[in-house]
Amino acid sequence: MSIITFANTKGGAGKTTAVLLLATELARRGRSVAIIDTDPQRWISRWFEEAPPCANLTVATYVSVAALQRTITGVSREADHVIVDLPGAQSPLLATALGLSDHVVIPIQGSAMDAQGGAQVIELLQYLDRRAGISIPFSVLLSRVNSLVTTHSLQAVKNLLAERAVHVLDTPIIERSAFRDMFEFRRPLHMLDHRKVSNLPKALANTEAYTNEILALLPAASRTQAA
Ligand SMILES: Nc1ncnc2c1ncn2[C@@H]1O[C@H](COP(=O)(O)OP(=O)(O)OP(=O)(O)O)[C@@H](O)[C@H]1O
Ligand SMILES: [Mg+2]
Repeated sequence: MSIITFANTKGGAGKTTAVLLLATELARRGRSVAIIDTDPQRWISRWFEEAPPCANLTVATYVSVAALQRTITGVSREADHVIVDLPGAQSPLLATALGLSDHVVIPIQGSAMDAQGGAQVIELLQYLDRRAGISIPFSVLLSRVNSLVTTHSLQAVKNLLAERAVHVLDTPIIERSAFRDMFEFRRPLHMLDHRKVSNLPKALANTEAYTNEILALLPAASRTQAA
């Protein structure tokens, strides 16, 4: 079992999109996945209520600070992967969720490179390590990357973060309408209609590569499906 939290205190960084892509792709592969939707906007909960039944996927909604640990403990009895979506603002849930995680993913908009909200999460993780000795592995996910951005300039961003000893996933999430359509049509990416959604195969390939990379970061025991 693994607990992955997606955090960035800046709104619109691509957290919810990255959470839903990872969760639905893992569920498609037969893993049991529980999403914890802590965002008062309830994007994922609303998506889930209207989506066709998704085998292997559950969503816990409206989770308060007091209930977070209890909820995670509860769902983790059944789930191979627990994925926490945090709101896009400073939240009292942030430190608690980080402290419970096996890995923290920090989506940062690769196009805008507005890394301020991501830096706040990294500072909090470093603070937890320094003051409480809790060392939680984390990675930056470059999100909403323009497909025209050259490999060269993307590499420059990665190098900049690497200089600060921040791990950056090799696979960015590209800015694609297919990722918006997943919310629009209330369906997992792999259930979208390729006649209505442009570049769906590219979006699917992007999601597979991203999921593989996240899986490789998790503790070895949680990479394979629970018996
Ligand atoms: N890779 C992408 N391609 C196209 N659109 C995207 C992509 N990622 C996110 N978006 C769009 O950008 C907006 C913000 O994305 P999202 O809701 O995932 O961010 P968030 O970090 O969860 O935001 P919040 O902080 O408000 O919770 C949404 O309209 C979403 O559809
Ligand atoms: Mg969100």
